[in-house]
Amino acid sequence: MANKKIALVTGGNRGIGRAIARQLSDQGIHVIITARKISDGQSVVDEIIEAGGSSEVMLLEMTDSQQRERLVRDIDAQYQRLDILVNNAGVALDKWVPGADLDIQVMRDTMEVNVYASLQLIQLALPLMKRNQYGRIVNLSSELASLNDMHLGMTLAYRTSKAALNAITRILALELEEYPDIKINAAAPGWVKTELGGDDAPLTPEQGAITPVWLATLPEDGPSGGFYREKQAYPW
Ligand SMILES: NC(=O)c1ccc[n+]([C@@H]2O[C@H](COP(=O)([O-])OP(=O)(O)OC[C@H]3O[C@@H](n4cnc5c(N)ncnc54)[C@H](OP(=O)(O)O)[C@@H]3O)[C@@H](O)[C@H]2O)c1
Repeated sequence: MANKKIALVTGGNRGIGRAIARQLSDQGIHVIITARKISDGQSVVDEIIEAGGSSEVMLLEMTDSQQRERLVRDIDAQYQRLDILVNNAGVALDKWVPGADLDIQVMRDTMEVNVYASLQLIQLALPLMKRNQYGRIVNLSSELASLNDMHLGMTLAYRTSKAALNAITRILALELEEYPDIKINAAAPGWVKTELGGDDAPLTPEQGAITPVWLATLPEDGPSGGFYREKQAYPW
């Protein structure tokens, strides 16, 4: 394990997170996936190990700050490093609800997972990345977060939360300028057939994972502070 990179993929038990975990493990990275129930994550770990990779599952309910802290503490104790953080776990609780009718509690619940928990995981991961002078942070965002094009209307909570995650990406990238070995970027995976994306989506989770995995494994001269879809810069 000593020469393997260590990646943490939240919500790796299904959907795009599962595909990201599998693709990272194909590159020889040890992938820690998180799940709310260990048994949910174990099947993905078994798949990865069966395919010759290396993986384990750790418990994380995103809304529980003590679990967030314990998770990174345990990784530090076990590996003394965290090379890659993929903030993948996310919720879309207000799908197709007009903003004018949005229950504010739904907005809070959305922000808790998509923004506050994701931000705290970054804050917890950064000391390990700074210590090892290496880090790749990927925030799973969405085209629906692009302020450039809010034409659809609706889904205000989800879209605002991902726009906030984009802002966090840019702000932290600037703050991290003195650490060029740590890169933080946002990825729009496209419209992907998952529980969140629905059955009509054209992309498979494997296709949706391509840009996040690219950003998670950027070379030394790769970008930081960007928003990407299909490996191309996407308008904020
Ligand atoms: N699918 C798309 O078209 C699409 C498009 C743009 C962006 N995205 C983004 O891509 C990411 C992955 O989406 P997906 O389509 O793969 O969604 P998904 O299939 O619904 O999976 C969501 C993942 O997040 C986890 N999760 C949700 N709430 C959680 C919580 N409170 N604590 C811990 N884990 C939690 C789920 O765990 P459980 O299994 O325990 O529920 C699951 O592992 C999300 O951030 C999403 O916003 C998706």
